[in-house]
Amino acid sequence: MKQIKLSLERKNSNYDICIGSGLIPSHSFSFLESFTGSQIAVISNHEISKLYYEKVKLAIQTIKPHIEIQLISLLAGESTKSIDSFSEILDTLVRSRFKRNDLLIALGGGVVGDLTGFTAACYQRGIDFVQVPTTLLAMVDSSVGGKTAINHSKGKNLIGAFHQPAEVIIDTDCLKSLPDSEFSAGMAEVIKIAAIYDESFFEWLELNYSKVLSKDASALEYMIFKSCSLKAKVVEQDELEQGIRAILNFGHTFGHAIENLSGYGKVLHGEAVAIGMVLAAGFSNDEAKLDANISSRLVKLLKRFNLPTELPANLDQEQIVDAMLLDKKNKEKGIRLILIEKLGSAIIKEFSKKSISTYLLNYKTLEGES
Ligand code: GLY
Repeated sequence: MKQIKLSLERKNSNYDICIGSGLIPSHSFSFLESFTGSQIAVISNHEISKLYYEKVKLAIQTIKPHIEIQLISLLAGESTKSIDSFSEILDTLVRSRFKRNDLLIALGGGVVGDLTGFTAACYQRGIDFVQVPTTLLAMVDSSVGGKTAINHSKGKNLIGAFHQPAEVIIDTDCLKSLPDSEFSAGMAEVIKIAAIYDESFFEWLELNYSKVLSKDASALEYMIFKSCSLKAKVVEQDELEQGIRAILNFGHTFGHAIENLSGYGKVLHGEAVAIGMVLAAGFSNDEAKLDANISSRLVKLLKRFNLPTELPANLDQEQIVDAMLLDKKNKEKGIRLILIEKLGSAIIKEFSKKSISTYLLNYKTLEGES
């Protein structure tokens, strides 16, 4: 097992991210050592709870046999990240007389993690929660760093809070049950963190892609450990995204627009981010003097993991720019983009609507060499 400690100045807090095979149920959930409550609610979806809920329950009961544990199981999918689900969970917690020292566990992917974290942030002004991510995307990105949210009908993640988990437990065995398309979608976030923050990790991915694709256990453990360590370093510097944390949004401004216009669920978040990174790399060639060879290597690596790299033919540049303007991260004057100057080094810059429109209008597909 590999372990990372993420330390934050605000509230002087820190927590462990534990990564390994077979952690559920064998891992001694360390948050239980300091747990003084009497109830735990595991929040999950119908598919994931069938696979892992009993194992999580067993792990807890082996250490603390007298804790009451209940499952709150929801429909799988982005539509569950809603005010209705938030309210349904709150009703259950109030009915069960949940106290401030009780605990929530998020068992699932990004939807379950974001919703559980947001509920934990709000219930009685904040209770503890633990992340047990079961998708690659949640393991390497959304379960780490304390961003929690639900969607509003007018936009994704519009209602949210920064609320850090008490522990993140990543059992790489969960990846065995993950559909290939979702594994690929998670790889987009792995490639993103390498491209913006660590050239040698990018090179490792280029050299080891076949081991990762064949789900070699030690390659997966290393890759997830590295992704989480890099993300932890960024979050430790800027927990509340006042500055450098924004680089984690590389590919996301274009990506969110593509996701929004295609209809959520039609294009997976990671797939949209993959296309977004290719567009942002092309823009970096023009605006940050990025060597065109790096863009080609990015395209080639994304293709290795079966990720899309081309803009869907049915979207035009005006639609994309208008959708980008709706992104909550944009300031009034312009659109904020993350560009890369070279592998492992990202910058944050604002651009006018016109300059992005012109770029998209003249955009030519960046082909990776095969
Ligand atoms: N997913 C980007 C962040 O956590 O900041």
